[in-house]
Amino acid sequence: MSLKKVTVVGAGNVGAEAANQILSRELANVVLIDKFGDLAKGKALDILTSASLKGSSSNIIGSDDYSMTADSDIVIITAGLPRKPGMSREELVEANGKIISEIAQNIKVFSPNAIIIMVTNPLDVMTYLAYKVSGFAQSKVMGMAGVLDTVRFKTFIAEELGVTAKDVNAMVLGGHGDEMVPLVDCATVSGIPLTQLMDMDAIERIIERTKNGGAEVVSLLKTGSAYYAPAASVVEMAESIIKNKKSILPVSVYLNGEYGINDIYLGVPAILGKNGIEKVIEFKPGATDLKNLQNSGKVVKETIDKLEKTLSISK
Ligand code: NAI
Ligand code: 2OP
Repeated sequence: MSLKKVTVVGAGNVGAEAANQILSRELANVVLIDKFGDLAKGKALDILTSASLKGSSSNIIGSDDYSMTADSDIVIITAGLPRKPGMSREELVEANGKIISEIAQNIKVFSPNAIIIMVTNPLDVMTYLAYKVSGFAQSKVMGMAGVLDTVRFKTFIAEELGVTAKDVNAMVLGGHGDEMVPLVDCATVSGIPLTQLMDMDAIERIIERTKNGGAEVVSLLKTGSAYYAPAASVVEMAESIIKNKKSILPVSVYLNGEYGINDIYLGVPAILGKNGIEKVIEFKPGATDLKNLQNSGKVVKETIDKLEKTLSISK
């Protein structure tokens, strides 16, 4: 069977590492696009020459020419500015909005049947923008954030308990911002409720650290933001689509009244398979979690309104 074609737009930290992981795991052939074509070509060549050492026969090319991306099955968008220390993700909205509009128009022209996975921040707002500009079906436009926020939550729980993070089952919903919603009631470790393993003070500390997980890395790196875990998270989503695995993952999806929320993108559980979002899962969170999820949605909506004032978004 021939390999799928995945385009990664943005050959920076997240994009190059995502391309590297896709190639290493032989999930697809990759086209790496950047406005700096030589940067994309250089990184693609470097990644390609590592492939045989990893037992992979996938191919990768770099370019600034969107005709090379034609008929991609999946387009992962990582182009744009990352935040600097002290900056919120929302402060990136105007600059990244212009970049995402231009990219979504190119995807529409060259890969009208692709599934788009957004990574660029502010995540839920940029995903909404790509949906509006591309005019693609809701099932084919989604954002990556919940997988990343969830692995941070799981890692910090595991660290506190001194166990492997593989045994932690948990989920973080909501927008990819300070109002994200780590679900305590659903968190278990090898089936044991988290609340029976830790006191509430420890849980509160972990929730705060999860919410600040991205900022903690930004403040340590000094320039740029996290990229190894973000790249692994977006590749986890792409893999579920490419292999039709039907994993249930927290994904930024368009909401049509689920959880009492309408007309925004927000992180909720969804099944990912060959058609993209196969199903948005609506379950009954506790009253406080539901209130927090709706509050997180309000913050995303405010940033969408800000963006709509600066860019004219039409479908
Ligand atoms: P980076 O600065 O390393 O890479 C961005 C790349 O985009 C650069 O190579 C730049 O030349 C390219 N670019 C800019 N404008 C472009 C255009 N019009 N067309 C094509 N390429 C263009 O940044 P990094 O660390 O890779 O982060 C990328 C984005 O992803 C940022 O907005 C960051 O905040 C976001 N992010 C989101 C995460 C999430 O959980 N959703 C996690 C990590 C990062
Ligand atoms: C993160 O959470 C920067 O949004 C990115 O690491």
